[in-house]
Amino acid sequence: MRTLPKDFLWGGAIAANQVEGGYNEDGRGLASMDVVPNGKNRFQYMFGNVQDLSFKEDEKYPVLNGIDFYHRYKEDIALFAEMGFKVLRLSISWSRIFPRGDEERPNEKGLQFYDDVFKELKKYHIEPLVTISHYDFPLYLVKEYGGFKSRKMVDFYKKYATVLFKRYKGIVHYWLTFNEINDTLILPYLSAGVVIDPNEDKEQQLYNAAHHILLASAWTVKIGHEIDPTNKIGNMFAGGTWYPYTCHPQDVFATITKNRDAFFFCDVQARGYYPSYKLRELERKGITIPFEDNDKEILKNNTIDFLSFSYYATHVVSGDEKLNEEIKNNPLATLKNPYLGEILYKRQDDPMGLRNTLNMYYDRYQKPLFIVENGTGTNEVYVEGKEINDERHIEYYREHIKALKDAVIIDGVDLMGYTTWGCIDLLSASSCQMSKRYGFIYVDLDDEGHGTMNRYRKKSFYWYKKVIETNGEDL
Ligand code: BG6
Repeated sequence: MRTLPKDFLWGGAIAANQVEGGYNEDGRGLASMDVVPNGKNRFQYMFGNVQDLSFKEDEKYPVLNGIDFYHRYKEDIALFAEMGFKVLRLSISWSRIFPRGDEERPNEKGLQFYDDVFKELKKYHIEPLVTISHYDFPLYLVKEYGGFKSRKMVDFYKKYATVLFKRYKGIVHYWLTFNEINDTLILPYLSAGVVIDPNEDKEQQLYNAAHHILLASAWTVKIGHEIDPTNKIGNMFAGGTWYPYTCHPQDVFATITKNRDAFFFCDVQARGYYPSYKLRELERKGITIPFEDNDKEILKNNTIDFLSFSYYATHVVSGDEKLNEEIKNNPLATLKNPYLGEILYKRQDDPMGLRNTLNMYYDRYQKPLFIVENGTGTNEVYVEGKEINDERHIEYYREHIKALKDAVIIDGVDLMGYTTWGCIDLLSASSCQMSKRYGFIYVDLDDEGHGTMNRYRKKSFYWYKKVIETNGEDL
């Protein structure tokens, strides 16, 4: 094989909390990210350190309006279709379906919204790839139960997932359980709706959440397969391999350890059991995993069909703790790699790293892979009548697509598809900025919330269209 497979799924990715807006329409309840303001306090919320989750007079909450996908989805999907998308990765807002999270019955209007979105996708033969929960938890469940710290969340999530599988049977074939599940231990509010109780042991709380979220994921695989055995259900984790700072054996071991941050979740989801390195680590720390009857069996019998991950860049770690000091408290940071270019938004581009990463995951799990996020933020500005020149996106994607082709064609990695992150400009998860633009489509909206929200095709729009048309041959 010298080309990508004919059925390779090209497309883009978005998430409800970063695009939809319409936060109080058609019965939707508030969601965890609705109450996280932009600005300097944002990370404290995402770390789970903020107890007071009320709206503050002097803060701004851009997520409430997003980029108004809720009202403009037809226009946006038509643009994705014009680029030739085969797949659109999108997520469902849990609190549209269950506004509080613990109701008996779902909110019909919420379900209808996604009926309409899926109908629109079908019109253009675009497959939906649905993330059941992408940084998105009903706020009521967060306040009442502390998110996935509580085992009750497993039941609420099972119920929510069951409703989705039944309603969209035969319409949605590809599902992801939780976005960037491995961030549960680093950004617990963001990834698992967890608020840390300062009077309790923080690490124990994090591992309670990790166990519950892993369990909810396995149950979802079970339920999804029972309702429709043709469903393909994957996990989703923040990917990108770690490199050793030098070839000193201590640096190499630090790398093995760092890579296990993501492997731990994937090991449970893809192999069906807690890996021995994690069991030993927790034993040393005196942390208990809140196993109950049948948990082990559920995990074992319901492993994922494929692995999906985000890839932005690789990272570097040292065995010397003093050197690591600068990256200790920042989950996005890396030591500088002298062989790569400048650090932009705390990342260094590394297309070859994508090939390394794909090979590493495929060697380890031997399951199909799906790259469901890849991209870079840029800050182009729209000027009426002028081309929106985002050459940087084109260069970034070109090099990464070359690398994934090498992984597939030369190395034999089984890769299902590729969805770029933020195929339309959207709110950044970490900074909530609009000016960190990932899209092929420009959205006229600035960081202060000003703008028409009109959509414009960027230079990369036409480039990606050609890439898809030629199945990745014309880069
Ligand atoms: C991933 C998330 O971590 O990175 C997305 O799944 C997020 O939701 C993306 O938007 C890019 O990060 P950021 O902070 O630039 O938006």
